[in-house]
Amino acid sequence: MEAISRIKPFLFLLFLSLACSSVIATVSYDDKAIIINGRRRILISGSIHYPRSTPEMWPDLIQKAKDGGLDVIQTYVFWNGHEPSPGKYNFEGRFDLVKFIKLVHQAGLYVHLRIGPYVCAEWNFGGFPVWLKYVRGIEFRTDNQPFKVAMQRFVVHIVNMMKSQNLFEPQGGPIIMSQIENEYGPIEWEIGAPGKAYTAWAAKMAVSTNTGVPWVMCKQETAPDPVIDACNGFYCEGFRPNKPNKPKMWTEVWSGWFTQYGGPPPHRPAEDLAFAVARFVQNNGSFFNYYMYHGGTNFGRTAAGLFIATSYDYDAPIDEYGLLNQPKWGHLRDLHRAIKQCEPALVSSYPTVTWPGKNQEVHVFTSKSGACAAFLANYDTTYSTKLTFRNVQYDLPPWSISILPDCKTAVYNTARIGFRSSPAKMVPVGSGFAWQSYSEATPAADDSDVLGMQGLWEQTYVTKDSSDYLWYMTQVDISSNEGFLKSGQWPYLTVMSAGHALHVFINGQLSGTVYGSLGNPKLTFNGYVNLRAGVNKIALLSVAVGLPNGGLHYEKWNTGILGPVTLKGLNEGTRDLSKQRWSYKAGLRGEATSLVTNGGSSSSIEWVEGSLIAQKQPLTWYKTTFNAPAGNDPLALDMISMGKGEIWVNGQSIGRHWPGYIAKGDCGGCDYAGTFSEKKCQSGCGQPSQRWYHVPRSWLKPGGNVLVVFEEWGGDPTRITLVKRTH
Ligand code: GAL
Repeated sequence: MEAISRIKPFLFLLFLSLACSSVIATVSYDDKAIIINGRRRILISGSIHYPRSTPEMWPDLIQKAKDGGLDVIQTYVFWNGHEPSPGKYNFEGRFDLVKFIKLVHQAGLYVHLRIGPYVCAEWNFGGFPVWLKYVRGIEFRTDNQPFKVAMQRFVVHIVNMMKSQNLFEPQGGPIIMSQIENEYGPIEWEIGAPGKAYTAWAAKMAVSTNTGVPWVMCKQETAPDPVIDACNGFYCEGFRPNKPNKPKMWTEVWSGWFTQYGGPPPHRPAEDLAFAVARFVQNNGSFFNYYMYHGGTNFGRTAAGLFIATSYDYDAPIDEYGLLNQPKWGHLRDLHRAIKQCEPALVSSYPTVTWPGKNQEVHVFTSKSGACAAFLANYDTTYSTKLTFRNVQYDLPPWSISILPDCKTAVYNTARIGFRSSPAKMVPVGSGFAWQSYSEATPAADDSDVLGMQGLWEQTYVTKDSSDYLWYMTQVDISSNEGFLKSGQWPYLTVMSAGHALHVFINGQLSGTVYGSLGNPKLTFNGYVNLRAGVNKIALLSVAVGLPNGGLHYEKWNTGILGPVTLKGLNEGTRDLSKQRWSYKAGLRGEATSLVTNGGSSSSIEWVEGSLIAQKQPLTWYKTTFNAPAGNDPLALDMISMGKGEIWVNGQSIGRHWPGYIAKGDCGGCDYAGTFSEKKCQSGCGQPSQRWYHVPRSWLKPGGNVLVVFEEWGGDPTRITLVKRTH
């Protein structure tokens, strides 16, 4: 359309001096699209978060993304992985960001680098290092000097690292865009003036780093120029950028959704996902990114946002294990081919929209040079329709769009999946494990290695998140003339905790376990407890399941037992234990020894084996050794017989297991047609939210691999099996 020729491309930056380069490399944008080296592009992108897989998996994942028709790989940068303590950086292994970006480059793809450094992402503490919480005077994500200083330091560190490796596109590298902050709009809206000031500062600070490529702020209507605001969601066709000279970008096309413990794994039908994307493109969208294209695994203790499962499969086009999730991957590849065929028309014209019939809509793009592309839509959720376009009749299934790259031939329809696929299976390998067990002793307030303080302390303050576990221990003196000793009516203990799980031990015996849920991490233990005359030892094991990953001032959210802790039914009535002396022990004994790193062989731990191994006992460590199965199929542990805890393979944590958390929800049918939400297409209610736990192949040696499991609730380790995932 003519309008397009009136708009002068808004050059974001950079003409690298000819002295440095023989090519003038630019990344800029206008209202239609991102412009790379003078060419407007429809860019198809997918999120792959480098620490959620292994470096050995990266080349294959990137190749599969390329084969799936992607132009761009998008990733967040994970500050807490890179700077675990102030000024001590880590860019090794799964955190080798430069290596990841170089692999994407080698594959011929671009990178959208979401530096954040706030990332949300169901990642521990939303990506922030825990030490940041303890910087004096800090308030996260607002106009706060200590926060801004720390944030700028990290952003500049990353930008400089990228520059020094020539990774920005004008330097010949693959990074065509960056992101600052993440979905800050709703927070700004809530907090007002300091939020506005922070947004202005963040945008200015980012732009001043002179990367030579545009910056994006997602879900941020107030993104200051020249930063581009972008949409995140299940659908984004109605989104409009905040200035007419900015392209319409969709930074998170949710390809599925994350699994949380207690919920069933969500599933988004490929037909609806393709429909949402086609709808966005026919409405002038020129950049879209699947969040996630490969979700991967929340290894170790990286999962957060509370009760987030270890699997971050996301029902993404490439599954957690790196295998194609069909038919989704293939159906989207075909969509991408169709969209690319339309590119010449899409990037040089606005659509003409008509409504030939009920629930029918037609978008036609015609360029001056004669390119023509049409999108024919049927929005009806139940009925297919016959739509006449330029005297030809087209059959459209319900809730679908047909794409005609030459305005004649329908090469693709979002609801017609062109091929069959078989679901992946988990097949047992090997002959089971020979386990040894070791019981974690319940510590007592008088142990030499515990910390004593008056009153109840916040959990993260004590652990600094070095472990999920914190023991709260105290003593209760019961006089021999207490009435309950004669009546047999035991006293009633109440423990109120900010979360996330709790085991109550009285004189070394487990009295009960309680845990929260994503909706409500807080919990209360209520129960009659068997106390005896004299000194009674109360040991409360408070368990965190990751720190929060977002929300207003989430640095102030608490974890652990903050009280009150009371004992009812004594002669005196109710005794408040909250203010008395408590002792603390961060982490488990097994975590403090070399148990997880080498199976505890050289430590003082006494393992038992054979018929003596502990079964269905809380707080038990198990270990075994095994050989890597032949072949290349991805591997997992079937943990169906276990409750809750954590798993290590050759000293590396593969994540928290919690198969004892059974999925509740609506697992009714799933019709692809009609508006999708994350609760719409769930399956597996009544089953563990997560049964299988990914064991990366590259973490294994041919023989003698050490597998360690810490089980909190009690389980049957003899039924744990190694499985391979195959189609
Ligand atoms: C978005 C956020 C992402 C991720 C997603 C849900 O709002 O930007 O980081 O958390 O939600 O998976």
